[in-house]
Amino acid sequence: MNFKKKCLVLFLLVSIIACKENEQSAIDPQIIPAPNTLNINKGEFLLSSNTNLVYDEELKPAVAYWESITTPVFGGNTGEVNTIKFVLDKTIKNLEAYNLVVNTEEITIKASSAKGAFYAVQTLIQLLPAEFIEKEYKSNSLKIKALTITDKPQFSYRGMHLDVARHMYPVEFIKKYIDALAMLKMNTFHWHLTEDQGWRIEIKKYPKLQKVAAYRKETLMGHYSDQPHQFDGKKYGGYYTQEEVKEVVAYAAERFVTVIPEIEMPGHSQAAIAAYPELGCTGEQVEVATKWGVFEDIYCTKDETFNFIENVLDEVVALFPSEYIHIGGDEAPKTRWKTCKNCQARIKAEGLKDEHELQNYFITRMEKYLNSKGKQIIGWDEILEGGLAPNATVMSWRGTSGAVEAAKSGHNVVMTPTSHCYFDYYQSDNENEPTAIGGYLPLEKVYSFNPIPDELTEEESKYIIGVQGNVWTEYMPTSEQVEYMAFPRILAMSEVLWTNTENKNYRDFVTRVEDFHKRLYVLGINYANHLYEINGEMISINNESFYKLETLTEGKDIRYTLDGNEPTLKSEIYKAEIPISKSLEIKAAVFNAEEKLGKIFSQNINFHKAVGAKISIDKEPHKAYSGSGAEGLINGISGSVSRYGDKEWLGFWGEDIVVIIDFSTPKEISSISTRFHNGNGQWIYAPEEIGFSFKLQEDGRTINDIKLIKDSHDLIVDYAYKIEPTVVTRIEIVIKNYGTIPEGKQGAGNKAWTFIDEIIIN
Ligand code: ACM
Ligand code: ZN
Repeated sequence: MNFKKKCLVLFLLVSIIACKENEQSAIDPQIIPAPNTLNINKGEFLLSSNTNLVYDEELKPAVAYWESITTPVFGGNTGEVNTIKFVLDKTIKNLEAYNLVVNTEEITIKASSAKGAFYAVQTLIQLLPAEFIEKEYKSNSLKIKALTITDKPQFSYRGMHLDVARHMYPVEFIKKYIDALAMLKMNTFHWHLTEDQGWRIEIKKYPKLQKVAAYRKETLMGHYSDQPHQFDGKKYGGYYTQEEVKEVVAYAAERFVTVIPEIEMPGHSQAAIAAYPELGCTGEQVEVATKWGVFEDIYCTKDETFNFIENVLDEVVALFPSEYIHIGGDEAPKTRWKTCKNCQARIKAEGLKDEHELQNYFITRMEKYLNSKGKQIIGWDEILEGGLAPNATVMSWRGTSGAVEAAKSGHNVVMTPTSHCYFDYYQSDNENEPTAIGGYLPLEKVYSFNPIPDELTEEESKYIIGVQGNVWTEYMPTSEQVEYMAFPRILAMSEVLWTNTENKNYRDFVTRVEDFHKRLYVLGINYANHLYEINGEMISINNESFYKLETLTEGKDIRYTLDGNEPTLKSEIYKAEIPISKSLEIKAAVFNAEEKLGKIFSQNINFHKAVGAKISIDKEPHKAYSGSGAEGLINGISGSVSRYGDKEWLGFWGEDIVVIIDFSTPKEISSISTRFHNGNGQWIYAPEEIGFSFKLQEDGRTINDIKLIKDSHDLIVDYAYKIEPTVVTRIEIVIKNYGTIPEGKQGAGNKAWTFIDEIIIN
């Protein structure tokens, strides 16, 4: 064969291979949220420009969506004519349910509404290769595995929230967010439009909302807990015009997403009061807030303020077809109301007991107004204060007690507790994470959420209409950062919402998330990838200490070192728990055969004298912050500086605690140290007083001591106590809670949290 011929053969070979690659085989279904039943059958369906669409008119919107996605893809003529049938089937009771049958000749979608058919379309899209969603993607045909899916949602309210007040994002991004919701079969977008730091919706009757309330003069830099506060000196703001709002609402409607606007009242309204000081109690000029938190300037309860809010709501109601209007209701300090003659006169005239009942008066009055416009109200769980407005739906965020109270009194509830639904919390305990508000909410915890509180009977559980993930954006200046915080936790949330508990499986979910990365990449979504991170844990087997390493994804190795060097492909492969008998640093990473995949995990183990001792605490830590239990305080591992919600910190709310450490063999000790979190913005305060007693070995005597901690402004308050070397059998530590949060601080009047880290004894 001469050179030219060789080249030709090579060219043909390459072409054939390339051609084969273009003609992909059908992908294995990796659908999120997992369908409730899925059976794979034999064969494949060939989707192409020769695929005909046959449909009942009522299902047309779902068909139109399918066409808008697929039509641009196909060129050429495959010759194989086949059909997708969209069949209206009124015997399907749930309007959001669908049946999907793919066989070699045809695809049949059955649903009793366009909404159900739309979710079938979303499933079908996920049965196509991820690259297919790319704008430039062209193909002659695509294959879909033959299968049968019967599917319906677990909850009717499936929501995501977005705060556009702390930071604002372009309309294009709002649409991208809505697209993601629709992809994940979510049906509600809670648009948080007004705040202390900015008013983001155009209200034509009140131009100063656009001119004044929409802009703050500057923004806090760094974290709220960084002292002293520093500002960037740059004006920030903007608002969505009514035309833009209409555009968003229409875009969402085409994707079967309802947009619920939130207009906050009576609190979180400092921006509006900055524009119209007469809306507040004092009438004094305030500024649009430049830092985060809760502010005391809230709406006054005089008639003029109600007139304003009603006029605002008139314009809002006209823009949003949603049945619900969210009226906020959260975090409204009563400071101003207590000294306002108008508010006090209102309390008297209405025969109210106090300012809490005045809050109820406020909400109920607004409910009545919105009901008269054909709308229902939804509000944060503080709307339970002083009694609940008669028809209100409660969004339970401060734990689940609000949900229980509301459901027991026959009110609908949307679950959104901080413990499982706040995507502004850290998602990894890696110290390199971008700054977040605090807390710790990894993917697995979101996934594990059971939205029905234990306290409810089956009958009462029916009032739990759904769940919502919240994205508060104090620390998310860009839409990329919103994506980073929302993804992949939103995937876990979609499965909490859609998939029945018995069909959920975290390992299987993680495999699907790994596959879903391609899809997110193609969609241009800046997702966080913590799947290749390592979880480590100190464990005790027969009174010996070991360190256990785990990673989530299958088919990969963990390699580790104990000498401080970074692990490489040559490092030891982790096979079993590592025995620990001295202080050391473990470094580990996940590898495939070729390379390191995730970030390096590194853990210092401080093998101090209390490791392996017995420990007890007289109180249970708070359910949401129970870390690794009491043992976690003497396991040789310190908590993260920023993630007080990680598994090493313990949180107690408003309680004094007594920690007792018992040594099985007497120990000579000379120091005790620990740390307290002091994130005052999150209501966390280091204690001011700690008492000690030591039970001595030689004569069983006890010595006592009390240590005072000065009022500290550090985020982490280190605490150390030294004594002459003493042989002891038992140490008792009494840690006094800080008490009530003082006036002028976030959460003033509430009990403070105590967060304690490792107790190190040497
Ligand atoms: C809230 O997080 N303030 C509802
Ligand atoms: Zn007032």
